[in-house]
Amino acid sequence: MTHIDGLNVLPRSVRDSQSEMAEIVLPNDTNPLGALLGGRLMHWIDLAGAMAAHRHSRNYALTAGIDHMDFLVPVHVGDLVILRSSVNRVFNTSMEVGVKVWVENYLQDQCEHVSSAYLTFVAVDAGGRHITVPAVIPETDEQRRRFDEAGKRREIRRAHFERRKSR
Ligand SMILES: CC(C)(COP(=O)(O)OP(=O)(O)OC[C@H]1O[C@@H](n2cnc3c(N)ncnc32)[C@H](O)[C@@H]1OP(=O)(O)O)[C@@H](O)C(=O)NCCC(=O)NCCS
Repeated sequence: MTHIDGLNVLPRSVRDSQSEMAEIVLPNDTNPLGALLGGRLMHWIDLAGAMAAHRHSRNYALTAGIDHMDFLVPVHVGDLVILRSSVNRVFNTSMEVGVKVWVENYLQDQCEHVSSAYLTFVAVDAGGRHITVPAVIPETDEQRRRFDEAGKRREIRRAHFERRKSR
């Protein structure tokens, strides 16, 4: 059942949800070759995504799903990992959050793109009831592109879901 909190429905800009998280890769985050574990990175992505979802909805949010992900370059022990997240689009009780991950080589002053992920969060109140999420207002060309693409990704997710149900 969807619950609407009248005080918390005003639209917000993408800026309001933009979040950044940084981690130094420690030996416990890596495999025996000193490369960052994919699962550890996924955990950080989930946290960075949740920050944006909480900031936008001003409520609790559950991870409903994570789209396909690729790891483009290896990350090593001692590297600085930067995760940037923001809400791309709001649907009803759910919102798509994009997380972009960079590895920063602070010795050479260089950044490389490691991964991009799209997560869907569902906003809930303290009783676990789904909550209508305030609309998000894209303000820049890049934000409008992400907004449009999020709509297409939702259609793809729904089509997958329907196919799975009919099996
Ligand atoms: C995610 C969850 C809240 C969805 O609840 P539900 O009652 O099955 O979902 P509903 O059919 O009512 O859909 C609610 C919203 O979630 C979206 N949704 C549900 N499952 C989804 C999925 N797998 N991926 C993307 N969106 C999803 C729906 O599209 C809908 O969005 P809308 O309101 O914006 O249109 C529920 O499955 C759940 O609690 N899962 C466990 C979440 C969790 O514990 N996450 C932590 C990791 S284990």
